[in-house]
Amino acid sequence: MELLQAIEQRHSVRAYTDKSIDDEVKTELMSYIQSCNKESGLNMQLVVDEPKGFDGLMAHYGKFTGVRNYIAIVGKKSSELDEKCGYYGEKVVLKAQQLGLNTCWVAMTYKKIKTAFVVNPGEKLCLVIAIGYGKTQGNPHKSKEKEAVMKVKGETPEWFQNGVNAALLAPTAMNQQKFLFLLNGDKVSTKAGIGFYSKIDLGIVKYHFEIGAGTKNFHWE
Ligand SMILES: Cc1cc2nc3c(=O)[nH]c(=O)nc-3n(C[C@H](O)[C@H](O)[C@H](O)COP(=O)(O)O)c2cc1C
Repeated sequence: MELLQAIEQRHSVRAYTDKSIDDEVKTELMSYIQSCNKESGLNMQLVVDEPKGFDGLMAHYGKFTGVRNYIAIVGKKSSELDEKCGYYGEKVVLKAQQLGLNTCWVAMTYKKIKTAFVVNPGEKLCLVIAIGYGKTQGNPHKSKEKEAVMKVKGETPEWFQNGVNAALLAPTAMNQQKFLFLLNGDKVSTKAGIGFYSKIDLGIVKYHFEIGAGTKNFHWE
């Protein structure tokens, strides 16, 4: 499955079957997480067969059921950490979709089980991504109009529109879609709106934009 197809097919899934992640799939996912960690300096960890993080009141309130696996998104504290978590976490989300798994980013409705993952000195757990075989494939979210999230001087090239379209299919906290893509020549810059987790959202939508637009067409400013 191509990444664009993964973007189109991905929706947040909150109800999971009790099927364990296939061994081959787990191996491939873990090796992808390792390569993302190497590139980014993050310390993302796949936690399997650990139901306690999602068996409390919080998870119930968040309408999560059957979550036994998740990815702990851990990294060194810095002003860039949130955006980095978004960008690399979404890489893992789309890889998971390609491998036939479902996911949901979770910032609020889970319990931190400190024995399930490692947080080294100077690091923090930003959030988690629930992962597994969904009972359904989820549903498409409502989206803002393209024009509401882009600003262009002059003509709008097709690649830029494709990038924005891919960004609008991305998960954002509470589906807030508070981001802006600005085009100037072949330079693209971004702005995160004010809102909970909007820097994490920005990292996520930047990865989607790269896939939709094609990285050869532009430079980040
Ligand atoms: C940073 C972030 C945090 C999120 N936190 C939660 C959460 O705590 N609970 C939850 O049910 N969904 C959470 N979500 C999922 C969003 O609600 C979901 O992505 C959004 O409604 C869009 O739907 P979609 O992912 O199906 O496209 C989060 C998403 C992101 C990107």
